[in-house]
Amino acid sequence: MGVFDLLTSEKNVSIPEHYKKMNVKEMEQRVREIKGKFGERLFLPCHHYQKDEVVQFADATGDSLQLAQLAAKNEKAEYIVFCGVHFMAETADILTRHDQIVILPDMRAGCSMADMADIHQTERAWKVIQDTFGDTVLPLTYVNSTAAIKAFCGRNGGATVTSSNAKKMIEWAFTQKERLLFLPDQHLGRNTAAALGIPLEQMAVWDPVNEQFEFDGELQDVKVILWKGHCSVHENFTVENIAEIRKTRPEMNIIVHPECTYEVVQASDYNGSTKYIIDKIANAPAGSKWAIGTEMNLVKRIIDQHSDKEIISLNPQMCPCLTMNRIDLPHLLWALESIDRAEEISNISVDEQTAKDAIHALNKMLERA
Ligand code: 13P
Ligand code: SF4
Repeated sequence: MGVFDLLTSEKNVSIPEHYKKMNVKEMEQRVREIKGKFGERLFLPCHHYQKDEVVQFADATGDSLQLAQLAAKNEKAEYIVFCGVHFMAETADILTRHDQIVILPDMRAGCSMADMADIHQTERAWKVIQDTFGDTVLPLTYVNSTAAIKAFCGRNGGATVTSSNAKKMIEWAFTQKERLLFLPDQHLGRNTAAALGIPLEQMAVWDPVNEQFEFDGELQDVKVILWKGHCSVHENFTVENIAEIRKTRPEMNIIVHPECTYEVVQASDYNGSTKYIIDKIANAPAGSKWAIGTEMNLVKRIIDQHSDKEIISLNPQMCPCLTMNRIDLPHLLWALESIDRAEEISNISVDEQTAKDAIHALNKMLERA
């Protein structure tokens, strides 16, 4: 769902005023009551970038891969209240039964990266790609994409990837076709392909706005076509941030998410998904020192959980992901009370044909995860 759809969606109703006036204790108490009342009929998964005020009620927390796996295997819940962003809730809806209802507590919780590839742009790009390279290209999409893009990949023999299995999926893609189209995050695509030994000179960028390749050499040498999309949160970590830490705090380990630019990933010590970052620091010795390049709600939580280590954000000016932050305690309570009153507020429902195509792409990933 793009920004336009979010603004015009009939179901994009605003939270009633009285939720803004409730005090925190009262809201927490009501959330506990409703969760207690519904028990296993209600499942509340939370992405690691969610706020603590929401994460405290999570039935499970995880990175994008773990949350997709959990949705796929949850057969008991009638309601899945997804605390994350729109594409994650769509994925949960695709992977669950028809009668299981997926709710995103605030419909405005989109993802600017997912909005950077719409299906019309993708179909037009695909035509140019087919005309240029023939039937030699497999599409792979980061799960941070709309259901329509996942369905496009499914229809064309491709698959989804997350930051924790991108390497495996790119290796698989090359067993299928000579080239791949990776969308919508150019950075995850470039970082992963480079880690697999594909030279940057064999990667072209597809600019969906100007509808052209950004590439200097001979197009027939291209192995990877990178969609020109990015995460506006992770692009805020720079090589200057790294240079500053190396100069002033050379003892610090630098760990970043692969949505950061190639230059930042190259200059860091470690990179990986949110789960990788959490596990790496949890398993590090007491007294170790870390600068983390990822979303701020998660960085703050890691800092709070590891008082035996020195942990800072790689960029001291960093903010949380604003769309992840749309899900707060009042919206969570509103979603739960709506379920309790059997009212529909923000159900996520992917149409049948899109879901049918998208599931092929998701299953290819889940089978290999
Ligand atoms: P992971 O949790 O899979 O690393 O994804 C990060 C992200 O940006 C989700 O939007
Ligand atoms: Fe999208 Fe980036 Fe926010 Fe993740 S952190 S939801 S990729 S904008």
